Amino acid sequence: MSVLDVSHNRDGVALSERVFWIGALDPALRTFDIILKTANGTTYNAYLVRGSDGVAVIDTVKEQFADEFFARLESVARYEEIKIIVLNHLEPDHTGALPELMRRAPQARLYISQKAQVMLKALLKRDSYPFETVLTGDSVSLGDCTLRFLHTPYLHWPDTQCAYFEQENILFSGDVFGCHFCDSRLFNDLVGDFRFSFEYYYAHIMRPFKEHVRRALELIEPLELDIIAPTHGPILRDRPRDYVRRFRELSTSRLRNEVGEGEKSLLIFYISSYGNTARMAQAVYEGARAAAGVRASLYDLEGSEVAPFVDLIEDADAIVFGSPTINGDAVKPVWDLLSSLAVINTRGKMGAAFGSYGWSGEAVRMIEDRMRGLKMQLPLPGLRVKLIPTHEELIQCRDFGSQFAQALTAEEPSAAA
Ligand code: FEO
Repeated sequence: MSVLDVSHNRDGVALSERVFWIGALDPALRTFDIILKTANGTTYNAYLVRGSDGVAVIDTVKEQFADEFFARLESVARYEEIKIIVLNHLEPDHTGALPELMRRAPQARLYISQKAQVMLKALLKRDSYPFETVLTGDSVSLGDCTLRFLHTPYLHWPDTQCAYFEQENILFSGDVFGCHFCDSRLFNDLVGDFRFSFEYYYAHIMRPFKEHVRRALELIEPLELDIIAPTHGPILRDRPRDYVRRFRELSTSRLRNEVGEGEKSLLIFYISSYGNTARMAQAVYEGARAAAGVRASLYDLEGSEVAPFVDLIEDADAIVFGSPTINGDAVKPVWDLLSSLAVINTRGKMGAAFGSYGWSGEAVRMIEDRMRGLKMQLPLPGLRVKLIPTHEELIQCRDFGSQFAQALTAEEPSAAA
């Protein structure tokens, strides 16, 4: 039995009698979008659907891989047959070959989401492509084939959508359910173990938008699914619903079940060199946990890696940081955690900062600036104490914790909840 290996040819690959993969392999890629690592490259998956009344192309590829895309397309269709081009997502890794495709198939109409209209012009510097905007429930027909659209914004950009081939239960999912993993055997039942890549991709691309993931799952879970065809990584034809379930698990909070109904979760992180900021932290914690309706927790940053704290913060309503000032700055463990919060949604969470200092005491203000940058609300000015806190200053710290907790329980539910 021959093993599928698309690295040896430039033919389209059948997913079914009417659907073909016409994408490209990029095995040498190691960094995607500056921040994402990949140990074995990626694929730019594009697809072609042949109906009784014409052909649809679904997404294209990165510009440098256009030759491979056109060769595969030409192996399964003629340009004059193309009636529809669906762009599920306009990021250049999927629209790089579009200008040339439109030159070769000028009769084709684009089907994009409403949010994609502006991007179409901004990214491709063209107004003249004929396009239709579509919403969830809209569909387009190729005679005996119907593509129905699902609006799935922010997965990965505001423009993103999915297209569902109704007659064959195939979901063309864009970046959703994708991953950066290049294997020339293409299908999830043939490729190497890509689980780590699937999880990594979710963590960096989808996790900051998990509310949107859950909304998208409301649309996707009711579908009959025989194949999920994403724009990156393996085509999911073996147990595709497992990947949908995994997205549901990853986008569902675990901590929420442990905090009481109506209770707010408040996390206090600190680090201390001579014990002064630690004393302040203990007093802030005591003040906060005495407040009704608040579940307060206290953590020494010296005692953990960053990742588990990011998980906790994702589910928390409020975070407070305590840091000494050393050389005019907050200390590295604080920055390590604050800089890791870009992968979660912190908008609307409540924040505050405190710390002991010797000379200038910049750390508190710097932490507050970072929290504002993360779109957090800061109800109280930060609290600073020079060197060793006095009894009175520890009472101030206790009041600070208490007032912060009261502000938290007084607020409306945050957008990040
Ligand atoms: Fe694969 Fe968000 O582009």
